[in-house]
Amino acid sequence: MAATATPKLLLADIDEPGLHTREVYERRGGYDSLRAALQMSPEEVLRELEASGLRGRGGAGFAMGKKASFLPKGAMDKYLVCNADESEPGTFKDRELMQKTPHMLLEGIVIASYAAGANRGFIYVRGEYDLQADVLDAALAEARAAGYVGEDIFGSGHSLSLVIHRGAGAYICGEETALLDSLEGKRGNPRLKPPFPANQGLYQGPTLINNVETLATVPVIIRMGGEEYAELGVEGSTGTKLVSVSGHVRRPGNYEIELGIPSREIVYGLAGGPPEGREVKCWFPGGSSAPVLMPEDLDVPYDFDSLGKAGSMLGSGAIIVIDDSTPILDVALKVAKFYRHESCGKCTPCREGTNWTVKMLERIESGEATPMDLEIMASVQEHIIGNCLCVLGDAMAMPIGSMIAKFRDEFESHIEDARAKRGLGDAAASEVALGAQGAEESGHRLAAQGTGAQAPGEHAGAPGTQKGGA
Ligand SMILES: Cc1cc2nc3c(=O)[nH]c(=O)nc-3n(C[C@H](O)[C@H](O)[C@H](O)COP(=O)(O)O)c2cc1C
Ligand code: SF4
Repeated sequence: MAATATPKLLLADIDEPGLHTREVYERRGGYDSLRAALQMSPEEVLRELEASGLRGRGGAGFAMGKKASFLPKGAMDKYLVCNADESEPGTFKDRELMQKTPHMLLEGIVIASYAAGANRGFIYVRGEYDLQADVLDAALAEARAAGYVGEDIFGSGHSLSLVIHRGAGAYICGEETALLDSLEGKRGNPRLKPPFPANQGLYQGPTLINNVETLATVPVIIRMGGEEYAELGVEGSTGTKLVSVSGHVRRPGNYEIELGIPSREIVYGLAGGPPEGREVKCWFPGGSSAPVLMPEDLDVPYDFDSLGKAGSMLGSGAIIVIDDSTPILDVALKVAKFYRHESCGKCTPCREGTNWTVKMLERIESGEATPMDLEIMASVQEHIIGNCLCVLGDAMAMPIGSMIAKFRDEFESHIEDARAKRGLGDAAASEVALGAQGAEESGHRLAAQGTGAQAPGEHAGAPGTQKGGA
């Protein structure tokens, strides 16, 4: 299948040697958008951002211009935080932007800080991204030396101090409020919302927090004009998007696509589809947190609303393809173990639910489970969704729930096969099932109460991994 030609906005010059230096970036028109923006009033810049329809590229898809406009006016200290934690499994687009075109990100940050009236900025870089943080450090030194960052930038009256902060490697620190706590030097645990960061964020001050890709798009919008940018893509999902494609495809990598193209064009056209002789079994359209979709969903347009209507989400734009050589149990276990490990442990449904889900999946693998365990596991996922302080719990429950719903037969076969290997016949199965029925009822009750509960036949559940933040 031929790939659709997409206007390259973020990746246009990405393979230009030396693009990470100010000299090459400027030769390519870099920092012209900042000069233009500083000739405009902050309100005019905000209007362009709103007109562009740009939705956040970090996961939640909230309108960027609108979020920037929520910051109160006035002389108090305001903050801009760039979320460069990029830890969602399957996502590696921000890494490429930071590493290859760091000045584009810096330019976007300075423009956005001007629009929002923020004069203190931070880039929170994922702990494992040492190289990218080094590249950003060098670029920031160049930008400071050229007067793009600092006091009274080009005589505009706008000043911005900017700090690059290295995290310590915790997925939860990508959640915006956990990130803010981590930046303040505390353990990275999510905060209760409201208040939202726009009103009360870093050090209790108004804070605009955006993803790397979102902010790197800002200079493009100023260069093109918001309305022209909005002509790309589809209604509700304007512009281009970086997608990271991984898993069972022939050409994994980052691709820039126009939002709204059929997903099939990405999976087959750009990434080459699964290896020869293999078929797509299922795919995650937006990172491991997204409910899985099936091969027949590959014709769904790749945009926020269409993927939502199809029962999943665009998330961070990470497509993970699973081919028919992979048992669904392996996929489910990988996903559940990740979220169990990364749960911060602050709220019960997530801490216990992720732990319990892993244990039940392991029971299936070891031949200790009965079909009843599937019902319990599905019910646990339902009781996690919407009942946690942040969406990390949902991020496990949604894909696991979707796998149970879409691959029930395969899970049942796993259960039967593993039991047969242990020499447990049907009679034993029904005995265990009877026992499980009682346990299921108590499981429902406990899950509904949001309390910790052990899987049937288990001793009291060990507490979920308490993963601290930076
Ligand atoms: C558990 C969890 C992890 C997250 N990780 C990231 C991340 O690594 N990078 C990111 O930009 N957003 C991440 N987010 C989303 C942020 O909370 C926030 O919505 C985003 O940074 C806002 O930027 P945007 O509007 O530009 O997308 C995460 C959210 C959750 C719940
Ligand atoms: S949902 Fe999980 S990660 Fe989020 S606050 Fe609760 S325990 Fe922590």
